[in-house]
Amino acid sequence: MISKASIDKIFSTVRVEEIVGEYVQLKRAGANLKGLSPFRDEKTPSFVVSPSKQIWKDFSSGKGGTAISFLMELEGFTYPEALRHVAKKYGIELEENQRELSEEEKQAQTDKDLLYKIHEVANHYFQEILWDSDEGKSIGLSYFKERELKDETVRKFQLGYSPEKKNAFTEYALEKGYEKEILEKSGLSIFPENAPAGIDRFRERVIFPIHGFSGRVLGFGARILKNNAKTAKYLNSPETEIYHKSNVLYGIYQSKQAISKNQLCLLTEGYMDVVSLHQSGIENVVASSGTALTIEQIKLIKRLTENVTILFDGDAAGIKASFRSIDLLLSEGMNIRVLLFPDGDDPDSFARKHPQEFVENFIRTEAKDFIDFKAEILLQEAENDPIKKAEAVRDIVKSVAFVENPLKQEIYLKEISGKFGLSEQSLFNELNIQKQIQKNQPKIAPAKEEKQKLEIVTESGFSVDPLLFLEEKLVELMLKYGDQILELQIAENQTHKTTVIEEIIRHLEEDDYEILSSVNKKVVDEIKSGIQNSELRTGNFFLTLMDENISEKVADAFAEPYETSNWEKHKIYFQKEDELVPKIVNDVIIRHKREFIVKLIKELKDQEEIAEIEKYDKIIRLNEIRREIDEELFRIV
Ligand code: GTP
Ligand code: MN
Repeated sequence: MISKASIDKIFSTVRVEEIVGEYVQLKRAGANLKGLSPFRDEKTPSFVVSPSKQIWKDFSSGKGGTAISFLMELEGFTYPEALRHVAKKYGIELEENQRELSEEEKQAQTDKDLLYKIHEVANHYFQEILWDSDEGKSIGLSYFKERELKDETVRKFQLGYSPEKKNAFTEYALEKGYEKEILEKSGLSIFPENAPAGIDRFRERVIFPIHGFSGRVLGFGARILKNNAKTAKYLNSPETEIYHKSNVLYGIYQSKQAISKNQLCLLTEGYMDVVSLHQSGIENVVASSGTALTIEQIKLIKRLTENVTILFDGDAAGIKASFRSIDLLLSEGMNIRVLLFPDGDDPDSFARKHPQEFVENFIRTEAKDFIDFKAEILLQEAENDPIKKAEAVRDIVKSVAFVENPLKQEIYLKEISGKFGLSEQSLFNELNIQKQIQKNQPKIAPAKEEKQKLEIVTESGFSVDPLLFLEEKLVELMLKYGDQILELQIAENQTHKTTVIEEIIRHLEEDDYEILSSVNKKVVDEIKSGIQNSELRTGNFFLTLMDENISEKVADAFAEPYETSNWEKHKIYFQKEDELVPKIVNDVIIRHKREFIVKLIKELKDQEEIAEIEKYDKIIRLNEIRREIDEELFRIV
């Protein structure tokens, strides 16, 4: 358990804009910062960070909260994990309340946590073997030396070595108390019937740990040392609960800052390309590890930049095979350039042959716009065969159709028209056909796309219970303006001073209102116990509370634009909110009261145990109160 003092320290030190800024490119917009949502695919920024309030709000997904809840959302961290991550980043020493974990807590440690842990342990182990064991030094380290890697590069990428012994790591991990089950789940060990002591997945290989965006080890790639061996050159971790091949890019952790700074991501194929380019000072590089690019990987890059240069080392066939995944990049609005390395060179060998400046220049000047490049390759292939040529044109125009920007499309078509000797008009016709086809086809990643649409539909088509809506407003008002003083007119010449919190709580208690949502209830209970301690607990108090639902609510409350649009949706119009706080508080209380009465009436009507006369008597009285309220509301509006 992290002590309360440490948690407070973390919250008072962390800067939400710094944490978010590692993932989202933020631009200043008035007092706030704005960027593209890291949670949704969007073209116009709707992700807002408020440095003064230390919160963020994502209008496209509806999420919001503190720096801590951002990390929980994006990295899938647990609350303590997020706190530890921030503490580490800011060099805050954590006080931990030393105590044994309860049985329940032990159980609550999910497989996922254990998987992260075992990967951390394995990562240390492989490095220790590389640097400290005879076998590691004489085989692993000397292999890296052969490939001209400096010690500091090996350390930077946490490269390691797995020894020849069949179950070296498995034995080590079992001794440390890790269970067979989790070792098996991690893919690091197997336990066949005939080898109960277990077998390591990686043996006699150099190890490349694969880090997630925030630096946690999710899996490993392992390279065989001899080039002629019959087994696969690279062996990778299998898919596990924490490692999804299609969601990771090798090097993203080590490269993310440089990618963002350079506003360019170099995309290579191999582990060694990434490592080697880093060593020569080019640090904005990731590898897709030999597979076709996925939407998830593109999104990882898109958090940092929209500009990608793909570094190809293969032959024409390999390059052509990647055209489809490049269309995917185009359809995500990325600007794509491609670069072919001279025969026989890959980025790794090229970077070792030439100084940094030369390589940088080469990449800058030789990289070609993808569509031009594709046109050239296909044109070359088609030679003078008219059928092939027509196919090539169709194929290229298809890529152009993926480009979102119409201006860019036009420029491309002009160029293609020149290259292929076709009229622009016929190319435009083809473009329209291709667009039509794309529209009618399921998008490239149908499953995901559909899910997003579904979510949006439920968001807007959701009919809100007015009582719940007003309850939300009451809680929001307390969070946002809780300590603001209200001067209530109680008689002709007499006013009474109170606060927003006290006034709303008084209303809730007066009517014996039972709070509908559990999050609201938590907030109200906290506020009430605050009052008992003569404390006014408003937004800032709740931000340090350990509940991400609550911090999301606070962010909601603080996020102005959301506010008004919601009011308007419910046909409730006001002028500027904070000038009118007393009026709004009063109004929301009355409306809330009215809806509560409507609900009571409805419940009464449905009740069967109660005598008819008594029932109608009550209903009539409630209806009278409702009418009075309606009259009052009529006066207000
Ligand atoms: P070196 O040969 O050490 O320079 O490796 P490299 O990183 O340059 O790899 P290469 O260009 O041969 O392959 C590109 C990437 O494809 C590698 O980094 C691996 O991620 C992947 N890869 C290559 N060979 C295999 C293999 O046999 N099995 C699997 N699963 N992946 C491989
Ligand atoms: Mn290579």
